[in-house]
Amino acid sequence: MAAAPIAIASDHAGFDLKQALIEHLQAAGIPVLDLGTNSRDSVDYPDFGDALAKAIRAGKATRGVLVCGTGLGISMAANRHKGIRAAHCRDTTDARLTRQHNDANVLALGARTTGIEVAKDCLNVFLNTAFEGGRHQRRVDKLG
Ligand code: RB5
Repeated sequence: MAAAPIAIASDHAGFDLKQALIEHLQAAGIPVLDLGTNSRDSVDYPDFGDALAKAIRAGKATRGVLVCGTGLGISMAANRHKGIRAAHCRDTTDARLTRQHNDANVLALGARTTGIEVAKDCLNVFLNTAFEGGRHQRRVDKLG
């Protein structure tokens, strides 16, 4: 059975990092659903956070990656959608704990604040860390 694709989207500020992360995923044999943007031309980050959230809610992917300048605005956009738990991560500890405790389904990264190698490490940890469940499930359920 083919692996579920990872959805990915960015605004213009995150475009270069998004492209690098797509290459990183593809090199690992992970299929990617690229929802844009497709150039460095200025766009509005909410449009891309929304598009990725809708793709996950529609079952086109189970996990996603968002990139904007800081990772903040685009995660705010995604988190307005029910069932989306987008976590802005600056290091691998954030990425690990948000999977273990929050069952985050979207990793948000800042292209202006996080270097490419740290971003790749965050993505690897995000994809390879399981939710711990237990007491954390009750708390995640309260997020709605
Ligand atoms: C775009 O200049 C910038 O505001 C955006 O990428 C992001 O950082 C917003 O949170």
